[in-house]
Amino acid sequence: MTTEPTTQTNSDTDSTTLTDAVVDSLRGTADPRLHQLLAALSRHLHDFVRETRPSMAEWERAIAFLTATGRACTDTRQEFILLSDVLGVSMLVETINGHSGDGATTESTVLGPFHMTESPVRELGANIDLVGTGEPCVVSGRVLSRDGSPLPGAVLDVWQADGEGYYDVQQPDLQPPGNGRGLFTADAEGRFRFRTCVPSPYPIPTDGPVGDLLRATGRHPYRPAHIHFIASAKDHEPVTTHIFVAGSDYLDSDAVFAVKESLVQDFAETDDPSLAREFGVPNPFRHARFDLVLEPSEPSEPSAPLERS
Ligand code: BEZ
Ligand code: FE
Repeated sequence: MTTEPTTQTNSDTDSTTLTDAVVDSLRGTADPRLHQLLAALSRHLHDFVRETRPSMAEWERAIAFLTATGRACTDTRQEFILLSDVLGVSMLVETINGHSGDGATTESTVLGPFHMTESPVRELGANIDLVGTGEPCVVSGRVLSRDGSPLPGAVLDVWQADGEGYYDVQQPDLQPPGNGRGLFTADAEGRFRFRTCVPSPYPIPTDGPVGDLLRATGRHPYRPAHIHFIASAKDHEPVTTHIFVAGSDYLDSDAVFAVKESLVQDFAETDDPSLAREFGVPNPFRHARFDLVLEPSEPSEPSAPLERS
């Protein structure tokens, strides 16, 4: 028996008949989560169209924008992630999947598009500023568990733009690979330390469709000065985060909405000749000191005892 395709009478675009038909057409989706996602997407998209009633020309413009966004993607550039970033979607997904932010553990924030190369392994205390474009500073602290116990051997992946606001991968002719990056292992007391330069605010890439969107909406492209971290330790959830420089421009208008108050750190002017000597920085120097606190992992289900044959 052949089934006649359902014909839709769409005279009333405010009715949900068409939406119901689309949602119903998904009922054969085998994966329940995929079914949930596609049904909700269809309902929300239809509600959006009913609310905004786009003209055909506007709909074609939207398709052209998404097409251009796809075309701008390369192996080293992800314009769709950038679109998700400037619409606040990346931050929403990050926050939903991060820990609750009860103040006891370090809050997460967006990964961003510049963690594209492996950070070079460096000794504690090493200088990640290979070029010397900015004001020298020292960053130090401890990696701790929720209960305050230190996490020896915790690994810190660090990356930042130079003092002029560019990542090494953006200026391959000017910066050596690995500039502003380091992979550090915390010592027996969970301590870390490295030398770098005070980062600067910088604009996200604006030479593609996302730049057009920012210009069309009168938005600036800047992010406040920050250093990226991924901290990980045995039996703990890794955290992807930043520290933001207290007093930086754009803290209240980050182009990607990634600032959380708890992540803003003072890069305090510090007068300590012996520490300055240890790090090879002129005294006085700027020093950011903070702890990264990780959530213990949920204990995994005990595995079933192996049956003897
Ligand atoms: C960044 O911090 O590197 C970044 C994050 C989101 C979009 C663009 C840049
Ligand atoms: Fe960044």
